[in-house]
Amino acid sequence: MGQHIEVLPDRAALIDRSLFLVVEQLQNAITERGQCTIALSGGSTPKPLYEALAQQDLPWAQVHVFWGDERYVPPDHPDSNEGMARAAWLDRIAIPAANIHPMRTDAADPQAAADRHEQELQQFFQIQPGIFPCFDVVLLGMGDDGHTASLFPHTPALTVTDRLVTVGNKDGQPRLTFTAPLINQARCVLFMVAGASKQPALAEIFAPEADAATYPARLIQPQGELWWLLDQAAGKNLANGIGD
Ligand code: 6PG
Repeated sequence: MGQHIEVLPDRAALIDRSLFLVVEQLQNAITERGQCTIALSGGSTPKPLYEALAQQDLPWAQVHVFWGDERYVPPDHPDSNEGMARAAWLDRIAIPAANIHPMRTDAADPQAAADRHEQELQQFFQIQPGIFPCFDVVLLGMGDDGHTASLFPHTPALTVTDRLVTVGNKDGQPRLTFTAPLINQARCVLFMVAGASKQPALAEIFAPEADAATYPARLIQPQGELWWLLDQAAGKNLANGIGD
């Protein structure tokens, strides 16, 4: 695993850098394997990246889009990660509908929805239960509390290691989320973290010792490449040379 940490001058530079890296990873995957699988993060930080991807001329028919987590709301709900990415990017490009693989949230029971999405992943990757597929790219953000995807501090989702997808919990609200082991199978994990409010959690994430149950982003140690793209506001107090 290669770990790369870059502090960019501002959010615009962070988006530009993430766009370069994502396009590079997509193109490499298509060249090497004929297709690319990318799992998206939600929240606010990645939206400009999705808008920039909509302007790229890429072989979208060879790109398959997934989500690393989803709020348990319909896709037309303002909180939906699927809805945000469709509006910012996917509705603006010629990508086959079958290449978009949302975490469906129409089951009454979120656990049933998690089980169903896991089956959809197993079907897509043609794998048996117990096997973890390798996504080419997993985009992640990090909350002020150190959560990532919907792996929130001190929640049961953090200890699920035998499933691909599980139910996360944010203040009692259910979410669907990739598990840490699934994320860690990725060829490339790319965190995009911006804003001064992220500083305290980042200090704990990069500290030599800290509790991963309290700071779940520490669980993300992929077998592939790990990129942390921070803006100056988020990353300015991190000691030089961390992660070397
Ligand atoms: C979500 C995300 C979540 C997000 C962080 C950071 O569904 O909200 O997947 O993990 O990445 O909360 O969010 P911001 O980018 O808005 O700071």
